[in-house]
Amino acid sequence: MPTDTQFATDWLEERYRFDVAARNPKAEAACLQYFAQHPDVSIIDMGAGTGANFIYLSEKFPQSQQWALVELNPNLLKRARERLKIWAAAKGYTVREEGQNLDFRRSEQHIHVQLLQGSFLELPQLLQPDQFHLVTASAVFDLLSEQMLSNLVQVFHQNRLALLATLNYESMAYLPGDAEDDHWIELYEAHMQREQDFGRALGPKCSASLENSYAQLPTEQILRAPSRWQIEPADTFMHGHMLEFLERSLLEMTHLGHSGKGLNAWLQRKKAALQAQQLRLSVTHSDLFIAPVYEG
Ligand SMILES: C[S@@+](CC[C@H](N)C(=O)[O-])C[C@H]1O[C@@H](n2cnc3c(N)ncnc32)[C@H](O)[C@@H]1O
Repeated sequence: MPTDTQFATDWLEERYRFDVAARNPKAEAACLQYFAQHPDVSIIDMGAGTGANFIYLSEKFPQSQQWALVELNPNLLKRARERLKIWAAAKGYTVREEGQNLDFRRSEQHIHVQLLQGSFLELPQLLQPDQFHLVTASAVFDLLSEQMLSNLVQVFHQNRLALLATLNYESMAYLPGDAEDDHWIELYEAHMQREQDFGRALGPKCSASLENSYAQLPTEQILRAPSRWQIEPADTFMHGHMLEFLERSLLEMTHLGHSGKGLNAWLQRKKAALQAQQLRLSVTHSDLFIAPVYEG
């Protein structure tokens, strides 16, 4: 499997504050509440990137934690390791390096982090899933095909793992709108779901597909709630990234035979609105917390 997953470090770090602002407090509270009585929590973070999900969530759990950060791209994992060390030192933890792993201690709290380079699609070859309580995945599951996701759900179910899947893409809207926005955004979403080596990514269908897979399984709780990026006119760097993604994806669709008539003019209107500090974009995602049935 190629390990260059095309996610740039600066993009992942730029989106962090938008993710933090967007995360749904109800889904997060349900997860923290579910584990409130556990003396410690063991967590697998899938598609860890540069460690954003760990950095955000580890502080929310008051108890000790064992984390396994699973990431395909070795460069991102390397950056995650550096970022976590800086984060832990700034938060007053003592930091110990144990080979690839990291160990943080502060008063009674102990956080152990394993950094695992590999594909979460082969999870049982990387770690023992039944040694964990929770899987987290942020901005990851919408990249997968329906089959990949439903296979993972089986692994989570068999190992009685709870799941907190955040920032799954659903839709986007420019404000104020333009008569052609729907057309180009639909084509952008079609690009997310285009045929690839592994099949078609779920894109906006991800959360519904996740709920469907769980509908046939016993669960104690399924909570799905919106998480929304609000990209304001002053957020020029983030707007620039979004326009670049749109342009690249839409051009690829024109090469696949879709008409590009009006595309340049539409992009120019967006770029002009950005220059004039009038561009707003709302990107809706959803967060899901799913708890397995507790069977003693
Ligand atoms: C949009 S990024 C999100 C990263 C991080 N969770 C965050 O919130 O910033 C998706 C991540 O999933 C990783 N990824 C994609 N497929 C993977 C796989 N099969 N196994 C492990 N990581 C994968 C990518 O390399 C990338 O780092």
